[in-house]
Amino acid sequence: MADLSNLEQRARAELAACTDEAALRIWNTRYFGKQGEVILALKEVGKVPPEERRAYGQEANRIKESLIAAYDGALVKEKELALERSLSAEGLDVTLPGRTTPRGRLHVSTRIMREIYGIFADLGFQIYRSREVEDDLTNFELLNMPPHHPARDMWDTFHTTTPGVLLRTHTSPGQIHVMRELCPEPIRVILPGMCYRYEAITTRSEIQFQQVEGLAIGTSVTMADLKGTITAFAQRLFGKERQVRFRSSYFPFTEPSIEVDIDWPKDDPNADRLTKGTGWLEIMGAGMVHPIVLKNGGYDPQKHSGFAFGMGPQRITMLKYAIDDIRLFWGNDVRFLEQF
Ligand code: PHE
Repeated sequence: MADLSNLEQRARAELAACTDEAALRIWNTRYFGKQGEVILALKEVGKVPPEERRAYGQEANRIKESLIAAYDGALVKEKELALERSLSAEGLDVTLPGRTTPRGRLHVSTRIMREIYGIFADLGFQIYRSREVEDDLTNFELLNMPPHHPARDMWDTFHTTTPGVLLRTHTSPGQIHVMRELCPEPIRVILPGMCYRYEAITTRSEIQFQQVEGLAIGTSVTMADLKGTITAFAQRLFGKERQVRFRSSYFPFTEPSIEVDIDWPKDDPNADRLTKGTGWLEIMGAGMVHPIVLKNGGYDPQKHSGFAFGMGPQRITMLKYAIDDIRLFWGNDVRFLEQF
């Protein structure tokens, strides 16, 4: 039968003598491990004469609980002390500035695209995503450009090794996809996305660029609607006081076709250079959807009419922020990207 009071005194004295965590753990094993003294003393309760058994058991349990509590307390205290020791030894300077995490941001093109989406959303236009890999039929023929049509020269095209499969040269083929999907419903969508042209890369042209196409079709859509929509858009993006000018132009898939200019603030020191002295800047091509294109989309040109426009948001961004080289957009130069 273990001498309980001696056991408790010894255990307490040894616990008090522990000076680090390792010593505490060794103490714990000695008294509470598989062969630990307290554990063995508890097991001995069966050997105690029946009249003393109850008192022995109660005392052994009390000692066990109180030693465990003392050990837990000592362990917590020792950890705090260890932390204090290491803090004072390593001389942490809490006044030093922290390490900053570099913050990313949206690409300037993404920001402009979202601004454009927002404006057209307010005007009731939904976004329609159309494919970037197209076929010749949709990119040209159904847009009223049969093979060998001279207008095809307006777009130098990347062809793939599969005959008739190409990278879209503009977002206009998306018009055909939306029309065929939604006909005979009215349409009011914008079609944003990447386009590709085989061009000499200069400060004003890249082989890859974004476009935002617009398409509205209904039973009484007129040129006045086109004009109103584009004017509202331009004034939201460039400022309320902007004037919009429409010039007659030519696209095979619109009739009549126009090009849209905005006037440039005369007090801008870049105005002369940007507008080549004219005071006007081209921002998009547009027109009334050609009857043949309407028909190719499934609509009856006798009943339906529509307008379409197409713009290059990179060009627009260049105007808005006076960026003079279009190659900066996909150049991945952080010094450029950080400015927006
Ligand atoms: N697709 C034409 C281009 O790439 C722009 C355009 C779109 C013109 C819609 C008229 C109507 O230049």
